[in-house]
Amino acid sequence: CVSPALYSLHHNPESVVVVVDILRATSAICAAFMNGVKHIIPIGTIDEARACKEKGYMVAAERDGLVLDFADFGNSPFNFTPERVAGRDIVYSTTNGTQAIQMASGAHHVVVGAYFNISALARWIVAQKRDVVILCAGWKNRFSLEDTLYAGALAHQLIGSGAFETICDATNAALDLWQVAHHDLQNYVLKAAQKARLAKHGLDDVIDYCHTPDLSNIIPLLDGERLVPVEA
Ligand code: MLT
Repeated sequence: CVSPALYSLHHNPESVVVVVDILRATSAICAAFMNGVKHIIPIGTIDEARACKEKGYMVAAERDGLVLDFADFGNSPFNFTPERVAGRDIVYSTTNGTQAIQMASGAHHVVVGAYFNISALARWIVAQKRDVVILCAGWKNRFSLEDTLYAGALAHQLIGSGAFETICDATNAALDLWQVAHHDLQNYVLKAAQKARLAKHGLDDVIDYCHTPDLSNIIPLLDGERLVPVEA
């Protein structure tokens, strides 16, 4: 379990990296696949995203929570409706989540985690028989409560499977955080700084939904420069 600031210390080309940005980038990616998107193309810079829009792509893009002026829509999972996304390729650029996906791209496999696909993801990871790094996108290199909680939830399932153990203290701390919070997850997560950031712009309507487990068996997997759906 690691933040982007420390990822280079944990990079291992043989490992699976799970990128996590529960509020909201990786929840939105999983929601898009649940609603039939064909591919998501994560993009780093605003200029690249604008160039994709000019080439005719549908573009979802935000910075600091706000939709970029050239984008078709922003970063709420509720934006990725079946009517909009089914059967389409979408270019996606966000403040932290898509940057973290790009950062992880040298790993053996890069997958996207959210509560929506947590149990399917745990099953898929166990089947890979590889070390796992959970990359918590956080906020501008800062620690994030909601992503670390998810890391604890996923680590709990992986260790519970009997196929994994950890000697990483960041993961031990995430496991303890999960134990403290999981009985009342939706309320606990209201402490998160990202809740306050989203609320400032009236964008915090997604918090309960983004903490809903097991709505999907689809694992978004980075294949070259795009995320493709894999069923687990
Ligand atoms: C991000 O990728 O930075 C976040 O998910 C942004 C957000 O949804 O507000």
